[in-house]
Amino acid sequence: MVTLKVNGREHQVDADPDTPLLYVLREDIKLNAAKFGCGLGQCGACTVIVDGKAVLSCVTPMILLEGKQVTTLEGLGTASEPAPIQRAFMEEQAAQCGYCIAGIMMRAQALLQRNSRPTNEQISSELEPHLCRCGTHMRILRAVRRAARLMDSADASLTADRRAR
Ligand code: FES
Ligand code: FES
Repeated sequence: MVTLKVNGREHQVDADPDTPLLYVLREDIKLNAAKFGCGLGQCGACTVIVDGKAVLSCVTPMILLEGKQVTTLEGLGTASEPAPIQRAFMEEQAAQCGYCIAGIMMRAQALLQRNSRPTNEQISSELEPHLCRCGTHMRILRAVRRAARLMDSADASLTADRRAR
């Protein structure tokens, strides 16, 4: 039995400790945002965040994750209350089929958490491990830039609120 902390909740998982995190998320915990693309660490569709870093869940055995914080797209926001990254991707209509998008959003989220004002070059190079067969790359880049602005203005209004108190 392995204990995993996913989106702030603990889960006891009764599976082989070598089972890739992706299978555990989708089959045991029933979180389906992370997608199976290649299963070989080559497409990025399965990306989640572990302790602030983007991780390819299809090649990460769950035993390595005990005691760590795993975040999936479901942990960022909901359809009625989307996180800035989700809102930005919707507003830019960045998804076509959508298969690659959850993974891309998670890597972009991890980038924006450590660098709130990335350059276009930094965004492109960060997203390099991700394949998008629909070719919506330009809209994806616009969405990440929009998310950075949204997160920045949310931070600014939070700071202004605190000062006003
Ligand atoms: S499914 Fe994990 S990298 Fe492709
Ligand atoms: S939107 Fe279809 S693979 Fe990226």
